[in-house]
Amino acid sequence: MGNDLQKVLLTEDEILARIQEMATDIWRDYKGKDLLLVGVLKGAILVMADLMRALPGTAPMDWMAISSYGSGTKSSGVVRIIKDLDTDITGRHVLIVEDIIDSGLTLSWIRSNLESRSPASVEICTLLRKPEVAKVEIDVRYVGFDIPNEFVVGYGLDYAEKYRNLRVVGTLNPSVYS
Ligand code: PRP
Repeated sequence: MGNDLQKVLLTEDEILARIQEMATDIWRDYKGKDLLLVGVLKGAILVMADLMRALPGTAPMDWMAISSYGSGTKSSGVVRIIKDLDTDITGRHVLIVEDIIDSGLTLSWIRSNLESRSPASVEICTLLRKPEVAKVEIDVRYVGFDIPNEFVVGYGLDYAEKYRNLRVVGTLNPSVYS
């Protein structure tokens, strides 16, 4: 599987070290608050697993699954909820955990949706962000890495549902697509 990679952008050590830093910041910022981690399936599973284990204490998690309407591309910004939260977030401090923000349209929609449920706060934590392709301004409190506009896989990110289990983040050889 590693042979399908063209280039490694982030090693496992780099990813885990940055997640540890973010977990420390999050724990400090949410001290004494009712924090709920909300993951967005499926890409965020590995970030969530490592982030919550890097926290110095315990915090509950919940999950949403969404799908984009219309063109079928993930960045249409019009979103349908496939699986909603199990939890009532009224009065709670919600931290959305994501693997990547490309256009920002998905997160922008999810944030407004969650904000409409009267939580105490909604913030965002993402491992990766592509500033060059942002279509909407979105305030992201915790960003692991800003990366260039390249198609990346690994650490939860897929190409046709493959490569999510890679421990690194990297780009694919063009031969994989042909
Ligand atoms: C990815 C990622 C975000 C979204 C970001 O999910 O997890 O949810 O795309 O794109 P945007 O900023 O352009 O809106 P994807 O649709 O690939 O689903 P997956 O997590 O199941 O792989």
